[in-house]
Amino acid sequence: MSEVQHNTAAGLPQHIAVVMDGNGRWANQRHMPRVAGHKAGVNATRRIVENCAKKNIKVLTIFAFSSENWRRPETEVSSIMALFVSTIGAEVKKLHNKNVCIRFIGDRSRFSQKLQKSINDAEQLTMHNTGLRLNIAANYGGRNDIVHACKLLINDVAQNKITFDEITEDLLGSYVSLNDVPAPDLFIRTGGEQRISNFLIWQLAYTELYFVDTLWPDFLDEDFEQALSWFTGRQRRFGKTGQQVIEQQMSGN
Ligand code: IPE
Ligand code: IPE
Ligand code: MG
Repeated sequence: MSEVQHNTAAGLPQHIAVVMDGNGRWANQRHMPRVAGHKAGVNATRRIVENCAKKNIKVLTIFAFSSENWRRPETEVSSIMALFVSTIGAEVKKLHNKNVCIRFIGDRSRFSQKLQKSINDAEQLTMHNTGLRLNIAANYGGRNDIVHACKLLINDVAQNKITFDEITEDLLGSYVSLNDVPAPDLFIRTGGEQRISNFLIWQLAYTELYFVDTLWPDFLDEDFEQALSWFTGRQRRFGKTGQQVIEQQMSGN
């Protein structure tokens, strides 16, 4: 993974990770039930997916439901689950026609059989698509991702497939989710909170973090453009000095 470049020539991120936050407050402001905010949020999700596909961004990872979101009132959880089923049903064929490859990360075993089937079918249908890779984090938690990776790794050590001394950051990284794509370059969180909320904690180690007050259903094309232009102004140092990075860029490395 180390040979993967972090920016394209155009300075666009290759991989964007999004915490789509603020649906509930959007609905509250309108004296509507929270689920209305989640429904409105689907439109914003469709917009960002289309924009990423148009701009040839390679990977988009969206946080749809965290492993902690089960703590919400049962009525909200079940309405979100129903919305997942209906949204997958309504959108997957269109995404397939746009050459989007859909993958889910997180523990899907807690979902209903019906939802698990929709998820598996969406992945199967789009698995050979070569356009945008869309990762949907559903019942996902970053800490659990790392624990799961450790278990797989320990199992491989126990079976003598790898030795204790072979364990490196890259090796452990090859067991966490999204190990087949570069780490996110840009993280966007709407809704005003400045936290990670147990999203991709391993993968975000060197990601540029962008927080915006706009509530997710209100996140428009121009808001996405703003996030991208903020990103292109970042100097990514990866531990080096700013001067080293400038010299590196001038020498074309
Ligand atoms: C994010 O919006 C969507 C999910 C967590 C499913 P919220 O529902 O968290 O919206 P706020 O933060 O309450 O406004
Ligand atoms: C993070 O948002 C999860 C998703 C957007 C799916 P939350 O609204 O659940 O995060 P906290 O609880 O405010 O940290
Ligand atoms: Mg929230």
